[in-house]
Order: sequence, then structure tokens, then C-alpha cells
Amino acid sequence: MKIEIEKTIRDIPHYPRAMKYGGDNGLIRLASNENPFPPSTNILNAILDTIYSITRYPGSEIELKELIAEKYRLTYEQVVLGNGSDEIIEMVLKAARLKGKDRVIITEPAFAYYSIAAQVYGYDMVKVPLKDMMTDLARIKEAIDERTRIIFLNNPLNPTGTIFKERDFKVFLDGIPPDVIVAVDEAYAEFAEDKDFPYSMRFIDEYPVLVLRTLSKAYALAGLRIGYCLGEASLISFLERTRQPFSINSIAIAAAKAALNDRDFLWFVLENNRKGKEFYYRALEDLSLDYVPTEANFILVKIGKDAELITRRLFEEGILVRWMGAYNLPDYIRVTIGRMDENKSFIETLTKIIKA
Ligand SMILES: Cc1ncc(COP(=O)(O)O)c(C=O)c1O
Repeated sequence: MKIEIEKTIRDIPHYPRAMKYGGDNGLIRLASNENPFPPSTNILNAILDTIYSITRYPGSEIELKELIAEKYRLTYEQVVLGNGSDEIIEMVLKAARLKGKDRVIITEPAFAYYSIAAQVYGYDMVKVPLKDMMTDLARIKEAIDERTRIIFLNNPLNPTGTIFKERDFKVFLDGIPPDVIVAVDEAYAEFAEDKDFPYSMRFIDEYPVLVLRTLSKAYALAGLRIGYCLGEASLISFLERTRQPFSINSIAIAAAKAALNDRDFLWFVLENNRKGKEFYYRALEDLSLDYVPTEANFILVKIGKDAELITRRLFEEGILVRWMGAYNLPDYIRVTIGRMDENKSFIETLTKIIKA
């Protein structure tokens, strides 16, 4: 049987899922920028308390929205939740549809799902190369034309870990046409240490800015799929209307509330990241390997022409990192900052492979 599928859909690449290697199978997983720690007792208790209600549809999301709103001194109407920020990326694309305005601008390279989702919803892509491994805001602004509808920015940027600063973001936003939505994906914001990292929520009333956040990274809930988006209330209400009725399950709602209230766990995660980053920097310098200083929970490391081969060798030794061929950076790997024992295993194994 041959079913006809439109070319725009046939052309969509598969998202690089590491499914085969999912679960707790003894691998050291440093390929997907996940949190390396088990959930805290507070989160586990919240999940257990919710188990009996799984026979019902998920209840109200208002309490969780209020908790998020309070964190940023906003109102719950300025918050929409999503099944991971992946769903929010889709909601933006769905809600923003407008005749004649079908163009999305992203950086090159960028997180893979922007272009996959944009293709699904029939948008054209404009890709603006990085400048010195950083988002080139000036060139992105120049790339705006009458068809441009959405700009996906990512700060800190996956896969480089670099950021743009608040003053540069403000300069960028000044003069952006009001019908161009700037969706800034801050999946890794909690890890950023630079004091000039933008407080993007500041801009949501003055500019068409949407701020995307996730609980998959610093809050360790990747498997439960929950993220949120902040923006001006009427824009948020349009995003909300494009959502599936119950896209966030009851366990995710309960766990998210517990995670956002668990400041000790977050502090512990961020402290681990700071120490892991310092450890990687020193170890990579000892190996004379170049890396991009990071504001996230991963590091882009220049390995050279054998990067793919070394990624494979690491895998044979039980260590999963991401070769950056698909991001057009074939000489690089991206390694997540894990627990210190995992970081040490990675460096020891990498040293052994390189020196063999
Ligand atoms: C930049 C960026 N945005 C979004 C996501 C997806 O996050 P979520 O798990 O909330 O869908 C990722 C995941 O790796 C990411 O790197």
C-alpha cells in the first residue's frame, strides 16, 4: 500500500531520539543535557500522593500557573503550560498562523525541533549563522522581511552554551515589527551565571516576546514532560486555545509544583553544575582541547576530525555524548555536565581513547 504524503512532511528529518538507550541501563548518559540526579523526596511524595487520581482527567492547572506567575511577579493569565517546551514551540507556531506571514527565523545551528515543528506547520525557514559561536542578533534582525512571523531565539544557546546579554536583547527588540513574535527559549536559563543574562520577562508587555522555560533540565523532570511560557496575557490566551485539552498529565502537574517549591534541590543541582563545569574546563585544558565556555549544563568541545569516531568509542565504553555532525559542527562533541563521578569517567575514558 502506498499512501501519498505531502513533500513538506516527507522532507522532515527524524528527531534524534536516544530511545534505544533510554532507561536505567548502566550507560553514562551525557548526550541530552538531562539532570543527572534522581528526583528529590519532595517530588517523589507529590507523585505518590497523585497516583490514585490517575483514573480522572488532570485537574486544575491554576495553582501551578499561580506558583509560576508569583515567581516572576506576573499573573496566572500570563502563563501557559505545555507538554515540555516542545509543545509550546508547537503552540506558538499554531497560534501565530497568518496569511502571507509564513517565515520563521532561527540560528544555524539551533535546537532541532524548531525546524521540524516549523515544517510540520507549513512555515519556511530562514537560518542565520552564528558569529563566534554566538547568536548574531544584528544579522537576525536584518533577515526580517514582510513574510517573517516568528523568531526563535535560544538563550543560553544549545549547542554552544553561549548567551546574549540583556542590553543586546533590548537593542534587538527595539524596532522589531509588532507582528513578529520573538519566542525566546530559555530551557537552560537556571544554569546561567553571567549577571547580564537577560531577565526577559521584563519585555513581555512592551514587545511581542514569549519566554519559554522547561522543568526538564534544572528541575529534573524531563520524563514527565512539562514546560511553561510567559507572555502578554492576550497572546498567552491565544496559545492556550491551540492546546490539546489535557496535554499535561496530573502527575506532571503535581511534580512541577513540588519541584518549583524545592529550592534546596535546585541549589544542589546548580552547585553540582558549577563544580562540574570547573572540572571539565581544567581537564579539557590539560588535554589541550578547545571548548566553548558555557552558561548551560553542557559543553561544546572541539575534538577534531575524529570527533564522530571518538563518540563511537566512548559509546563502546558505555558513555553517551552527542557528536555534532547533525548541527553542522562535525569536529565537535557536546557533553552534558553530569554528576562528578560521571564527569570523571568521561574524562578518563576520553583521555584513554585520545592517547591510545
Ligand atoms: C533549547 C531547547 N529547547 C527545548 C528543549 C526541549 O525541552 P522540553 O523537554 O521542555 O520539551 C530542549 C531539550 O533538549 C532544548 O535543548
